Amino acid sequence: MSFEVSNTILIERAQQSKISEVDFDNLPFGKIRTDHMLICEYSDGKWNQPRVVPYQDISLDPSAKIFHYGQSIFEGMKAYKDEQERIWLFRPLENQKRLNISAKRLAMPELPEAYFMEGLSALLKLDKDWIPTTADSSLYVRPFMFASGTGFHASPSDAYTFVIACSPSGAYFGGKIKVLIEEKYARAANGGVGFAKAGGNYAGQFYPTNLAIEKGYQQVIWTDDIKHEFIEEAGAMNIFVRIGDKLLTAPTSDRILDGVTRKSIIDVAKDMGIDVE
Ligand SMILES: Cc1ncc(COP(=O)(O)O)c(C=O)c1O
Repeated sequence: MSFEVSNTILIERAQQSKISEVDFDNLPFGKIRTDHMLICEYSDGKWNQPRVVPYQDISLDPSAKIFHYGQSIFEGMKAYKDEQERIWLFRPLENQKRLNISAKRLAMPELPEAYFMEGLSALLKLDKDWIPTTADSSLYVRPFMFASGTGFHASPSDAYTFVIACSPSGAYFGGKIKVLIEEKYARAANGGVGFAKAGGNYAGQFYPTNLAIEKGYQQVIWTDDIKHEFIEEAGAMNIFVRIGDKLLTAPTSDRILDGVTRKSIIDVAKDMGIDVE
């Protein structure tokens, strides 16, 4: 696939910032949005110029294929700011690569690396004041892509929209977490889309997770779909178990998201001489 990549991001600034309405000492997770978002549209076989615009609603035709066939993928990462006001992200290129791995599996167009990285950088520079510095907080960054093309034919869309939106956020979980090791439902199966960060993977988890919540748990730990004998991962994180001096984690497969944190922990552990299996 070839792309015409321009390194210019068009920027339209918000007339007025909403930042004074935010209580940065009590940030929920993912509920508050910053002043701007990045948007980039794909049509006629190519990505158009990315734009940073004031955060706003998106209008879609009711036959847009996202509503019917679920072509929707996303990423998640966190931005931090140090005392010198420098912005830090944790290995964002890994998220960019994974977005395109997800895109390929869902028959969606891959996004050029420059659009992702330059768009992200332009957006974060503009919304820098929104990056919280209080303990446990960060600016949650949510890149996502969905099918905006229309029609009731069950086939891939011919138009897509890529957006990056940001949310100043507190911790995802608070305190100790009680988890249920799932023995009936499965998150993913061989040959499926478990390794992709596809919206539908999360929709399918909500019902079993609700059942677990009713029983007093906060999260489900997914097990293999055939016998429910092997631990795979949690709803939104990979899992490591320490046995003696060894770290164990499920191998990546069709069924498991290849987490950036997971692969970084493996690298760091190996560097430190810790056995990982
Ligand atoms: C299903 C699932 N597994 C693992 C992870 C961890 O991925 P990462 O370390 O790249 O954030 C996530 C992240 O949200 C996830 O949704």
